[in-house]
Parts: sequence; structure tokens; C-alpha cells
Amino acid sequence: MGAAENKVEFSALPRHIGFIMDGNGRWAAKRGLPRSMGHRAGGEALKKTVDACRRIGIPYVTFYAFSTENWKRPAEEVDALMRLFKEYLDEAEKFAGQKARIRFLGDKTPFPDELRCRMTELEKNSAQYTSMTIMLAMNYGGRDDIIYAARRLAALSAEGDIRPEDIDEKTFSGMLYTGSAPDADLIIRSSGEQRLSNFLLWQSAYAELYFTDTLWPDFDEKELKKALESYASRSRRFGGV
Ligand code: FPP
Repeated sequence: MGAAENKVEFSALPRHIGFIMDGNGRWAAKRGLPRSMGHRAGGEALKKTVDACRRIGIPYVTFYAFSTENWKRPAEEVDALMRLFKEYLDEAEKFAGQKARIRFLGDKTPFPDELRCRMTELEKNSAQYTSMTIMLAMNYGGRDDIIYAARRLAALSAEGDIRPEDIDEKTFSGMLYTGSAPDADLIIRSSGEQRLSNFLLWQSAYAELYFTDTLWPDFDEKELKKALESYASRSRRFGGV
């Protein structure tokens, strides 16, 4: 189905969807598999979701792949995730080959050198694409995002490059990891948990929230469309009437 055909199915489409990919561990446990296999299956669901979003015509998607708190998991699981991220960089390169911009949200410093260099390279090489932006939140935390933006503004102010009274929502937003990307319109969380877990705190101020019991590795286009139908049925007032 072409993008145009898909678009008419929904009376309103979000411009930016954030995905909290939860439930990989439980998906694996249900099958007697190691947690790393759940993450691997989750990676496949991510790929399919990006494809579905592209076909439907969603210009910005953000996936919560690794939080600032995830380093607390057992070393074995963290190592498996790092290996998976490395493998999936090839996939991300393929998306860039299809003219999608790839961005990583979060502080790259703690990642292994090779991973960090490839992430930076991929961001640089795909920066010119505008039809779709895929953001992967890795070592990301919403509070960390806000602190990082505040630090950058404080540094600019100390240099005399910006006056405190000129700092408004727009300048502040621009300093966040998401930069010029629009705020999230819809946050989808899988696996039945109903919380934000430090994801896109600033950017989701007016986002619609959608929760599904489906575990992330089972998330597919059908699930996405259910979320989009729910989104289209909501009345967004942004504090107005
Ligand atoms: C949460 O499920 C998921 C994660 C912490 C990792 C998400 C990572 C992927 C889907 C891998 C693919 C990502 C990229 C960028 C290639 P959980 O482990 O907390 O599940 P549980 O709550 O059932 O234990």
C-alpha cells in the first residue's frame, strides 16, 4: 500500500511518535529464552515499525533503546545489548540508504569507541535527508536531556552569546538532543506498563499517551494502526478549550 493510500485511513496523523519498547525480557522468559533473545526479537520489531511508519507517512520516530538507568542491568545483558546495537548499525545504515536521517539522542561518551564513531559517522552522513528522521535514544534520559540543554545555555550565557531573558521555550527546545525535531505527538508504550520512565519529558508535554499490553517483540503494523486510530479519535486542545 502506498503512503498516500495509507494517509487517508486516518483523519489525523502524528508528526512525531515516541516508542517505549518494553517487554523484551518477558517475551523471552515466556519462551524459556535468554533475555538477549528478547532484545534481538525487539530489534526486528523496531525495523518493521520503522518500515510501517515510513509507509504510513510519519516523518519523525523516536525509539527508547537504552536509558541512562539501563547500565544498572547485569553486565551480561548490557554486553549483549551493545553487541546488538553494533549489528543494528548496519540496519540503520540501510535506512539512511533509503534517505532517512538517523540521529542518536543521549550522551555517546560511555559507549565503546567503535560504536560511538559509527554513530557519529551515521549521523553526519544522513544529516541531509529530510523525508523521515529516525531517532534512537541510547544512554538517554529525559532529565539528563534537560540538564544538558541547561548547561549549554549557561555556557552560552557565560560567554555573553545569549541573555538569560532571551531564553524561551523555542531556544530551550533547540538545545535538547532532539534539536529542531517537533515535540512528540504520540507516545506508545508496549507491555502494559503505564509510565514514561524518563523518556522525552520536555518533548511529551502535550503528547497523547497510548499503552498496549502487547510485548514489544510482538508489536507490529496492526498494533501501530490501532494506536493511530486511537490518536485520530482524540481531541487535542493544548490547554485551550
Ligand atoms: C525494555 O524491555 C527494552 C530494552 C531495555 C532494550 C530495547 C532494545 C531493543 C529493542 C534492541 C534494539 C534496539 C536497537 C537500537 C537496535 P525489558 O528488557 O525491560 O523487558 P521486561 O520489562 O519484560 O524485562
